[in-house]
This record gives sequence, structure tokens and C-alpha cells, in this order.
Amino acid sequence: MTSPRVHISDRVPAEVEEAIAASFEIVPSVRDAGGVVTMLTVTVDDAYLEDAGPQLKIVANYAVGVNNIDLEAARRRGVIVSNTPDVLTRATAEIALTLMLSLLRRVTEGDRFVRRQEPWQFSLEFMLGERLEGKTVLIIGSGRIGRETARLVEAFGAVPVLAGRDADLDALLGEADIVSLHVPLTAGTSHLIDGRRLALMKPSAVLINTARGPVVDEAALATALRSGALAGAGLDVYEHEPHVNMRLLGLENVVLAPHLGSATRDTRIAMGMLCVDALKAVLLEGRTPTNVVV
Ligand code: DGY
Repeated sequence: MTSPRVHISDRVPAEVEEAIAASFEIVPSVRDAGGVVTMLTVTVDDAYLEDAGPQLKIVANYAVGVNNIDLEAARRRGVIVSNTPDVLTRATAEIALTLMLSLLRRVTEGDRFVRRQEPWQFSLEFMLGERLEGKTVLIIGSGRIGRETARLVEAFGAVPVLAGRDADLDALLGEADIVSLHVPLTAGTSHLIDGRRLALMKPSAVLINTARGPVVDEAALATALRSGALAGAGLDVYEHEPHVNMRLLGLENVVLAPHLGSATRDTRIAMGMLCVDALKAVLLEGRTPTNVVV
């Protein structure tokens, strides 16, 4: 009996590739595949699905976010979409914490300073930062990663405020010392943090984005940071990823990471294994996968 065919859009960890190869034939084109494993960098729209052909039954997205996929087009064409929740929750919350702490304690700024070999010696008022302890952290998005981030900041003595779907953001933004974004990117959350909302934040506040770049108006953010209307930003994701707004690059009060939220080996393997489970469910067992999105 021939194995169902699967196309993988990019390199995956060897363990994941082996697991796929154990049950499926890996093919170089999605046009020959019953299932495809997609990265968040692949746009799966109606044209993609049309080009793939009617034999495609499942898109297993190697990410929890599915904003790269036109879910309505998939639904229309009867293509199942799965994602990779839970296994990356802690890793992503850790990156949010890392950005907060790096920013508040000026670690990346200090790292650049040391590497420039500027003259320095310990002195009491040199490069003072802020403790996370005691800060009010507004967490926008009360899903798994938002709740985990809340738990972690609480362990540092900060006060988390979880803002779910119906929260009055305009009222909450002005109270926060740190605003951390944990919403999926949808039509409703695109530019959720725009120039108007940035202006509602305290000038001493910082913004953390580990969700998706377009949730923030990056040009408005650069303007706010440059004018002193906002004290800092920690970004793991970008509006036009991988391009980063040039006006952010020269700022010392910005920590920039290259989309590392889920980037630990064990997390990436666990995400891959969820993709394998979903492929097996649809292509071998004829059932709906556990992590079905549509
Ligand atoms: C996701 O899964 O959506 C992250 O952004 C990348 O792992």
C-alpha cells in the first residue's frame, strides 16, 4: 500500500522529518500532496489552495498563529487547518519576560556599550534601570500565552492585569507601566495599538510585542519612542517581518529579537509532533485532528 503524500514548506528538525517520513511519502510539491506542513512565512490563500489542487486535505501549520492562512478559503474548499497550541506557551511567555527584563535593566543597551569598548568603571549612577517588581503589567489577550505571562510576571512581584476580548483598553492603557501583547492577528487586532492608543500610555511605559507585528502600527511606535512619548519597546515580531522599521534600529531604548518566541529545540520538536499527529488524523485515520482550527 502506498503512503499518503506530504509536502513540507521549509526545513524542520530532523526528529520531525523522521516522524513524517515514517508514515508518509515526503514530496517536493504541494501539487502532489494530501497534506502540507506550512511555516508562518507561507501565505496559504485561495490562490495557493487552487494551485495545490483538490487532493490537498490538510494544512498543518507549524505555528499557533494562523494569520498566514485564509481560513475562509480553506473552509470553502473543505481543507482542514491545524495549529500547534500549548507546547509553545511557556517558551513564548519566557520571551515576553526576557524582553521586559532586558529593557527595564538595559541589558542589550549595556551589551552594545561594552562591545563598543567605551571607557567605564562601576559607579553608583551609571546606567540605572527599573525593577520589574511592583510594576503594573497590562496583558492584552487572555489566552494561554497571556495567562502564562501573567503568572510569570506575578512571580517577579509585578501586578498583572489581564485584558480579554471585552476589556476597555483605552481606560487600562493609561494605568500600565508595561503593556504586553498576546492577541492573535485578525482583522480586528490589526493596528490594535496605533498612534492614538500609544498616546494613552504613560510616557514612562514600555510596550512588549511577542504576538504578531501588525498588531502594532510600527511607524507610530517609532515616532512615539523618538519623541519621548513612550519610554521603550521590546519586540519579537515586526509589521513587515523580517524588515524592521529603520527608525527603530538606532534607538537604545528598544530591544529587538528575531521572532524567537517558540525558538527552543524541544518546543520546535513538540510543535512538529503536533503537525505529525494532525497529518495522521486526517490522512491515515480519517478523523478531525485534535488541534483543528477549521
Ligand atoms: C507561532 O507559533 O505562532 C509563533 O509565532 C512561532 O512559533
